[in-house]
Amino acid sequence: MKTDNARPDFIKVEHAEMLFDTKKGRFHALRDINLSITEGEFIALIGHSGCGKSTLLNLVAGLLKPSAGVLLCDRREIAAPGPDRGVVFQNHSLLPWLTCFDNVHLAVERVFGATETKAQLKARTTAALELVGMGHALAKRPHEISGGMKQRVGIARALAMEPKVLLLDEPFGALDALTRAKLQDELLVIVARTGSTVVMVTHDVDEAVLLSDRIVMMTNGPAATIGDIVTVPLARPRDRVALAEDPSYVHCRKEVLEFLYTRHGHPEKEAA
Ligand SMILES: Nc1ncnc2c1ncn2[C@@H]1O[C@H](COP(=O)(O)OP(=O)(O)O)[C@@H](O)[C@H]1O
Ligand SMILES: [Mg+2]
Repeated sequence: MKTDNARPDFIKVEHAEMLFDTKKGRFHALRDINLSITEGEFIALIGHSGCGKSTLLNLVAGLLKPSAGVLLCDRREIAAPGPDRGVVFQNHSLLPWLTCFDNVHLAVERVFGATETKAQLKARTTAALELVGMGHALAKRPHEISGGMKQRVGIARALAMEPKVLLLDEPFGALDALTRAKLQDELLVIVARTGSTVVMVTHDVDEAVLLSDRIVMMTNGPAATIGDIVTVPLARPRDRVALAEDPSYVHCRKEVLEFLYTRHGHPEKEAA
């Protein structure tokens, strides 16, 4: 959540370009990406599939290096993944042979292992799993729990590292609508509590409006870039039922829909 003394430009992307070397030659995925994110802000990244949302998120995560331009987090150049940036992918990516507890503990140990006692590491792990409502399943393995629960453990693992920035790549994309709604509501509560800065990739317009402070809308690739940004002026905490008829909510939703389907129609549809 944004506070009064939140630092502006906490994350800064300046003139970032991304080119991939492929068998067919160079592929220009992202062109001239410029974005400044304030500390505590919740940003949704939306665009048609294949436009480069994951690529941009992976640049911020430090999993990819830009072909040109620079990315900064807390005034330091992003050169590699770091514990200040926790990442959650669509497909949980838990280690199947480890329990929920051990999956989170592994990450906790990596970040705090050198400075904290075993008891402290254990307490951190349990607290993170309790925060996402998984305190009852510490000893379960991934195959013993539902898809929604796996995503919760993935979020717990990211949160347990106390990252300043939480990077989410369609974290609820593979879930049914009800589970998804529940996890969205819980994410709002958790983020309000932790104050994390969040960048979340989604292609769900309602999810973007419900959760975020600003919606960054990307044009279609190749050479995709930020086409426009919608500011969501809705007060928090937000209630999905009340919002459904809120004029600001409806207006934001319409702006995003217009961008995606009128101004930048899906590339596959246009080609057809
Ligand atoms: N490692 C890679 N090598 C070559 N092309 C890639 C690579 N990663 C992504 N791309 C291409 O870059 C574009 C953007 O991909 P991506 O960021 O995954 O899109 P999105 O997440 O918006 O669906 C796509 O055309 C994809 O095929
Ligand atoms: Mg993607």
